[in-house]
Amino acid sequence: MKPYYQDSAVTIYHGDCRQIVPTLGRFDLLLTDPPYGVAFKGKATKHTKAGGGYLGDDSDVGPSVVRECLAVCECGIVTPGIRLMYAYPQPRDVGCVYCPSGAGVGPWGFTCFHPVLYYGKRRGGPKSPASFQSFHTSPDCGHPCPKPLEWMTWFVQIAGDVQTILDPFAGSGTTGRAAKDLGRKAVLIEREERYCEIAARRMAQEVLPLCTANQRISNKT
Ligand SMILES: C[S@@+](CC[C@H](N)C(=O)[O-])C[C@H]1O[C@@H](n2cnc3c(N)ncnc32)[C@H](O)[C@@H]1O
Repeated sequence: MKPYYQDSAVTIYHGDCRQIVPTLGRFDLLLTDPPYGVAFKGKATKHTKAGGGYLGDDSDVGPSVVRECLAVCECGIVTPGIRLMYAYPQPRDVGCVYCPSGAGVGPWGFTCFHPVLYYGKRRGGPKSPASFQSFHTSPDCGHPCPKPLEWMTWFVQIAGDVQTILDPFAGSGTTGRAAKDLGRKAVLIEREERYCEIAARRMAQEVLPLCTANQRISNKT
């Protein structure tokens, strides 16, 4: 299959990961942020001023794709969201990103963390906590729910000496940007072309992260 974008570190495929993953080889790390099954399609977020979610956000595609990807990855880190986390394959370890300023609203109150599921064994590196606290904000890049780059960077680093990374739910390409910045290789898959385009632009930036570039543009106007 022809990539949507390719450079020496990152390859982006535009399409449904359920069709593309079986055509790829093996990877050291699965690092992905699947749809949370919350169906915020069409709602405006601070990242999409006019609104607009993404196709498939109301589905439970994540657990089955993660199961399939784990068969071709040595280890995995998944941010499943709270609603669907119980549907995922049983992890070897669980951590969280603790967000004291709030990570959403649940029926029993404010949610203050994002669960993190760890699969397999990390590849060496210093022992560190499996959770961290975050006040980071997501880049204003046109995707409805991009993860902060600092999170994906932290996840790549905690995995140790992993060289090849797969993200089947790439969105705006945060995993790819973190991999590239850390000198690793990544394959990203994204079903919506408008998000492939955002991801491709992020990969093509050699130094500046997208949010910084956007802030500079908006500061000028
Ligand atoms: C939670 S978002 C990922 C956000 C990403 N971590 C970022 O920082 O931008 C999940 C993404 O998976 C994509 N997606 C949903 N179903 C898919 C499928 N079957 N194949 C490929 N991508 C899919 C959605 O379009 C959405 O962009």
